[in-house]
Amino acid sequence: MPKKHNWHKETAMIHEGYDSKEHQGSLAVPLYQTATYVFDSAEQGERRFAGEESGNIYSRLGNPTVRVLEERIAKMEEGAGGLAFASGMAAVSAVLVHVTKANDHVVCSRGIYGCTFGLLKIMEEKYNITHTLTSMRTEEEIEKAVTDETTCIYVETPINPTMELVDLQAVSNVAKRHGLRVIVDNTFCSPYIQTPLTFGADFVLHSATKYLNGHGDVIAGLLVGKDQEEMQKIRSTVQKDFGGVISPFDAWLLLRGIKTLPVRMDRHSSNARILFDYLKKHPKIEEVFYPFDDQHPQYEIAEKQMKTGGGLISFTIKGGKEEAQKFLNSLSLVKLAVSLGDAETLMQHPATMTHSGVPKAERDKMGVTDSLLRLSVGLEHMDDIMADLEQAFNAI
Ligand SMILES: Cc1ncc(COP(=O)(O)O)c(C=O)c1O
Repeated sequence: MPKKHNWHKETAMIHEGYDSKEHQGSLAVPLYQTATYVFDSAEQGERRFAGEESGNIYSRLGNPTVRVLEERIAKMEEGAGGLAFASGMAAVSAVLVHVTKANDHVVCSRGIYGCTFGLLKIMEEKYNITHTLTSMRTEEEIEKAVTDETTCIYVETPINPTMELVDLQAVSNVAKRHGLRVIVDNTFCSPYIQTPLTFGADFVLHSATKYLNGHGDVIAGLLVGKDQEEMQKIRSTVQKDFGGVISPFDAWLLLRGIKTLPVRMDRHSSNARILFDYLKKHPKIEEVFYPFDDQHPQYEIAEKQMKTGGGLISFTIKGGKEEAQKFLNSLSLVKLAVSLGDAETLMQHPATMTHSGVPKAERDKMGVTDSLLRLSVGLEHMDDIMADLEQAFNAI
């Protein structure tokens, strides 16, 4: 096992969980692209299945490349254990199945990823696990949504795509008072910007497809918890038996992407900050939403729990769906695509794309109007991004 260190995050993202001496001196983490492992003897196989001897059995149960990734994300999130999944949604499903049983209730931030909302609907239809979406602006507001059946609070912050924030400390305060578990989807920030476990959450998860990988070529999910035994339990039950594990190759790509996360996040954030100032003054725009702005009504929360503002900006264009679509169709360098956190600047129309599965009445409450657009600011030169946006604004 590699030695434990007390490294800074930037160092841990490059070195945590790996010792080249254990891998023939290979600087890069080797890719163990294998489905199964050969036992030395029948007795060894028996001991491994009985849990009496550690070691590899079968890659759905564990893989050396994946293990490095799991240790690395656990360290980055300041947790006790990590698990890697085939997608962000596999991580969301695993943790929600783990913390609920039939007839329970979940309190959610108003504004959750469309497929998480879809999963909650399935849970309700099949197992009567109900949920309440709430704005979570104050502890009282969160508390009001809690019922006798509530077992957990599920939070996204910043909220996608409206950039509203949820005070993680306030959520934990309520959870403690009622004995509830707290799950935070930290996809928008990455652990470089925000570490929810340090504000009292029990679990933090990621669509690692986004900033963690950062190169638009992997679908993956990660889950970190603060209790190692509990994470082991999830590994040996929900993860093993539902089976949504990451492939070794995707884990290898993710390890490569994570090495540069801090430098990428700093650049995403500084590019976004410049673009925010440009968009705010633009005559074709009604409103711009970015959390790290001293005019943002929740700036105090941003300063408390986020290191920088990240790379996501939303804005409403003057007009409606027609103008929004015309603008998107006029983009050239900026790519019209869902997803976020890539080197390429991406833009999408939440009402007809990522949030089209959310009922219109709920979308309206969330502020996902037809004129709202979401921009994932990439790593290109600012002048080029701005020139492309400007020519698209001129086209409407
Ligand atoms: C905030 C958030 N959570 C979860 C997911 C699901 O992740 P994946 O697409 O990797 O399954 C997404 C995907 O867009 C997301 O934006």
